[in-house]
Amino acid sequence: MTSTPHIVRLIWDDGHIDTIDVPDGSTILEAAISAGCIISFECRWGSCAKCTGHLLTGDVIHTSPPRVLRKEHLAANYVLLCVAEPLSDCSIEVGSHLKDSLSAISRDFTESITSSTPSSAFGWLSQKRNQ
Ligand code: FES
Repeated sequence: MTSTPHIVRLIWDDGHIDTIDVPDGSTILEAAISAGCIISFECRWGSCAKCTGHLLTGDVIHTSPPRVLRKEHLAANYVLLCVAEPLSDCSIEVGSHLKDSLSAISRDFTESITSSTPSSAFGWLSQKRNQ
């Protein structure tokens, strides 16, 4: 039995939108390439960040570890198209500028935890500061 593919809208920073069908068992990157989208990628196993996307609507699952994404990136809804499959119809911001966004998010996250008081939610950091 085959299921209906999910519709994924890839939204580029110039406003262009590619709409692709992603069949079950295919990553978003595989479907985008099959549809003729010019999308950046390199490693295809979650370690280079070239295929970074920003999930705007819908749900995706990483079927292999998104190695290059840190918890702050995942919390901000960043995804790696090479290891992500849609669980619903989705809209995803795409473009090479998103890889650069990851460093800025990590920097902001680091600054926020280093400026926290020892009573912050990051117990491991408080514990380390009290040694
Ligand atoms: S192609 Fe390298 S992380 Fe996706």
